[in-house]
Amino acid sequence: MSKRRITILPGDGIGPEVTHEARLLLEEIAEALGEQWTLDEALVGGAAYDATGSPLPDETVALCKASDAVLLGAVGGPKWDHLPGSTRPEAGLLGIRKQLGVFANLRPIKTWPGLLLASPLKPELLSGVDMVIVRELTGGLYFGQPKKRVEDGAAVVDTLYYTRGEIERVVRQAFMIAQGRRKKLTSVDKANVLESSRLWREVVNDLAPEYPDVEVEHILVDSAAMQLIQRPNQFDVVVTENMFGDILSDEAAVLTGSIGMLPSASIGLDGPGLYEPVHGSAPDITGKGIANPLASFLSVAMLLRHSLHLDEVATQVEDAVLSVIESGCRTRDLAGPGEEWLGTKEISSRVRSDVRGRLESY
Ligand code: NAD
Ligand code: IPM
Ligand code: MN
Repeated sequence: MSKRRITILPGDGIGPEVTHEARLLLEEIAEALGEQWTLDEALVGGAAYDATGSPLPDETVALCKASDAVLLGAVGGPKWDHLPGSTRPEAGLLGIRKQLGVFANLRPIKTWPGLLLASPLKPELLSGVDMVIVRELTGGLYFGQPKKRVEDGAAVVDTLYYTRGEIERVVRQAFMIAQGRRKKLTSVDKANVLESSRLWREVVNDLAPEYPDVEVEHILVDSAAMQLIQRPNQFDVVVTENMFGDILSDEAAVLTGSIGMLPSASIGLDGPGLYEPVHGSAPDITGKGIANPLASFLSVAMLLRHSLHLDEVATQVEDAVLSVIESGCRTRDLAGPGEEWLGTKEISSRVRSDVRGRLESY
């Protein structure tokens, strides 16, 4: 019997609402497999700041590092927006990413046949969209030093710093992912202006001969933002630096119908992976029982695949989400005007019961 350790970091806002449902899903999967999994919970973000004065307590880091995988809800909210950068909830999220060394953030974007009308874009643009954004996660503008007010507060500096090694390791991941897919890699940068982007482009071109089966193209980020909406079908694997990847992945969420459907996996060279929905703490809907838990369920599927090597079970979870969506169930974020929708717990229970049915034979 395998012992697996998973740490859950619920965080703030709707984070605890969606991770609660994800926890039920994990418990049911462990039971169906006849395995005993240890599911620990720890504090991060505003909840951690309120309890301990730090958005990322040492105990949280230690627990995460001792796990096979970490599942995070979301952090942040207006309550903590006045705090200085170092104690904001978001610093807890950046801190755990850095501490776990998860430099490659995989954000799959695939349209759901049943949800084409949930997007404001024309359905004919959307069918067949299937891409992965590989976002560099532990470098760039988010982490470069100095990052501070200068000139007595009259000026400010954020630093966009990358080493060749940091670029190489994430670009290699992207090439390998492309090799397992449609073998096309789009590197997004701003090489017409930024020196960091010129090094990025150089590294992609230097590595390309090692992956001769992968077709490589370079696109400037402003044009990429347009093409994501205009011709989203052309993309297979997109690799880009931290900030560009953050912005483009929220934009790409619109293709799928809702950011409430987008999962992510953050992985390093070894150690536990970090799995989180792409969405935030959604203060506008917190406590109403209407948050879409499916991005968290799909993040659980990525966790099962990448960290627990339970590929088949991961696929069952994804298929269960698909079948519940195809059966017409919607959460509020996916429902059209006048269309009925289910709350967080109701849709969670539909998907979990579908998963149970699929795992009965295990
Ligand atoms: P957000 O993703 O929280 O919300 C954007 C919009 O999407 C809102 O209207 C929200 O109601 C909706 N939404 C998001 N997730 C949803 C879900 N699961 N179901 C239904 N609707 C959903 O982004 P924001 O409003 O820009 O940020 C709010 C806070 O979240 C900020 O403090 C920000 O720093 C934080 N944030 C955290 C993460 C994270 O922890 N990974 C990611 C993004 C933003
Ligand atoms: C995300 C979020 C975070 C990021 C914030 C909350 C720090 O927007 O995970 O996409 O910018 O990485
Ligand atoms: Mn973001």
